[in-house]
Amino acid sequence: MKQISIGTVTIEQSAALAPMASVADYAYREMCARYGAAYTVSEMVSAKALCYGDKKSLTLLRRCSGKIPFSIQLFGDEPAFMAKAAKLLLPYAPDMIDINMGCPVPKVAGNGSGSALMRDSTKAAAITAAVAEAVPVPVTVKIRKGWDENSVNAPSFARLMEQSGAAAIAVHGRTKQQMYRPPVDRKIIREVKENVSVPVIGNGGITDAYSAQEMYRETGCDLVMVAQGSYGRPWVFSEIRSYLKSGVIPAQPTLREKLDIMLEHVSLAVADKGEHTAMMEARRVAGWYLKGMPGAAQFRYLCSSLTSYDDLKQLAAQVKAHAETEYDVGDTTK
Ligand SMILES: Cc1cc2nc3c(=O)[nH]c(=O)nc-3n(C[C@H](O)[C@H](O)[C@H](O)COP(=O)(O)O)c2cc1C
Repeated sequence: MKQISIGTVTIEQSAALAPMASVADYAYREMCARYGAAYTVSEMVSAKALCYGDKKSLTLLRRCSGKIPFSIQLFGDEPAFMAKAAKLLLPYAPDMIDINMGCPVPKVAGNGSGSALMRDSTKAAAITAAVAEAVPVPVTVKIRKGWDENSVNAPSFARLMEQSGAAAIAVHGRTKQQMYRPPVDRKIIREVKENVSVPVIGNGGITDAYSAQEMYRETGCDLVMVAQGSYGRPWVFSEIRSYLKSGVIPAQPTLREKLDIMLEHVSLAVADKGEHTAMMEARRVAGWYLKGMPGAAQFRYLCSSLTSYDDLKQLAAQVKAHAETEYDVGDTTK
């Protein structure tokens, strides 16, 4: 498998897991790492919260166990706080630090952070320079196409970030105004690639091996990054990896295997956060895994009353039993 370098960090050229606040927590990242992600990124962490000693922020920083690189993402709007927070991250052993310049939510963009930085390139450059100066690890920047269709600036903005010290640029090919709606503009990712010499990571709308390959082909990007396409499907990373390496898409996990993977995921969350919190969150996580399974509507409804890990084991057993009455669960097409 080919590799790319971001600064001093070597990464397999397959697919990385994108940062996702309230989704890509330790258990989620660990699952994606186990199932083939090239590297993972933490949920975004507030620079100010870290500087003020917020304990909850520290729970977001746990590294997964495998050998793949781990990046921690910071958000904020003041260079001095961002630099100080970046230094505070070093004991958590990130291989890279990423700066969020794409988040659209009012709580972040409304305070001048995230995607708002794409409208203030002077401040964005100062933040990138301050963070890159503060830490010995490569600093990457994650941007969008632009704020809206009237202010598309990803190529020139990316170039400025490179000049300010960014070691790679991740580009989500949608504007802030689009949020997460289609279409994803791959042309703009190509333009970014043509405007910088550091690696470019293409992001947006990748759901399988084919869309990953199209992102590579149409943009010339150095790596691709998957967010929502990994919901309840951590194996999407090994699928992409295998296809890029050998042109072969491995068989999908069987229904039984998928249920086991779901239990593996939630058991990691229970060990990390305790059963109560993990099971509240598992209501949504289990729903993603069950999507498309026989009787999914009924079983996904039952997810809303999960309170213990045993409940989930029972639910998985029910799904298996239901499938066995109608289908051969070993058949991967079911
Ligand atoms: C629930 C959710 C949380 C997200 N949180 C972050 C975040 O913390 N930092 C960030 O840079 N992007 C965040 N994103 C954006 C994703 O990293 C990614 O850029 C976007 O979803 C497009 O990729 P996709 O089409 O594969 O989902 C989030 C997206 C979702 C859906």
